[in-house]
Amino acid sequence: MARVIWGLATSHVPSIGAAMDNHKTSDEYWKPLFDGYEPARKWMAARRPDVAIVIYNDHANAVGLDLVPAFGLGTADFYEVADEGWGRRPVPPVIGAPELSEHLVRELMDDEFDIATFNRLDVDHGLTVPLSVYCPDPGDAWPCAVVPLLVNVIQYPQPTAARCYALGKALGRAIRSFPRELDVAVFGTGGMSHQLAGARAGLINSEFDRMFLRAIETEPEKLAALSREDYIRQAGTEGIELIMWLVMRGALSDKIARVHETYHVPASNTAAGAALFEDLGE
Ligand code: DHB
Ligand code: FE
Repeated sequence: MARVIWGLATSHVPSIGAAMDNHKTSDEYWKPLFDGYEPARKWMAARRPDVAIVIYNDHANAVGLDLVPAFGLGTADFYEVADEGWGRRPVPPVIGAPELSEHLVRELMDDEFDIATFNRLDVDHGLTVPLSVYCPDPGDAWPCAVVPLLVNVIQYPQPTAARCYALGKALGRAIRSFPRELDVAVFGTGGMSHQLAGARAGLINSEFDRMFLRAIETEPEKLAALSREDYIRQAGTEGIELIMWLVMRGALSDKIARVHETYHVPASNTAAGAALFEDLGE
């Protein structure tokens, strides 16, 4: 059977990808952030999954406001890297895992999550930056196949944090019922506190972020109990991306061990955080 081997929560700030693509990771501005990833990267490199399930949101690159599914799952065998206006990132194409996708869609449907299917999808920074956080030098190919799981965090009303946590639980069950030997990593992306527009643009709330980094390990139920308004008030209009970390957390077993965490302000206009958990199994 398939199993979850680790879970990575990480911000997906586009400029983190741009810093890597433009060889600026040793610059004074960026070095502290990238140094913070190093221990996690070393640990993950020694534990390569067969498939990464990446929970992320599209930023109006592939999913416009004409049609906004609350949850969606990629089912393709290949995902093109999106052109977000500056050309496609110079990273490898993303190879899918359609057999696993098909299984996950069916299991989630049977578990009463009515999930949209993306049979064709260009993946934006929300997905490719976390892959780069995991694997900075992929060469010609990413080290694993990828299944994108999309969450609407853009258009009100976003799914509740509690619903995201429940989706994660269902996702974990679905992964563990896949009848093939497969090591799976789960990525929860986005956050931490940030607001890109409006009167509160530039908002950072380190106290909330620090609380969230602790609680995602020890008290996910407390984070699941917060309303979407709580997230937006405390973490900013884009800080609500943090609900996607709860999908990852829900997919992990009850027994986990924190491997590493890092927190750095700012990356662009955002508080950047990452937390890595080993799944110790049932
Ligand atoms: C920024 C952060 C994001 O999470 C995002 O999706 C886009 C931009 C930023 O801080 O610039
Ligand atoms: Fe984002």
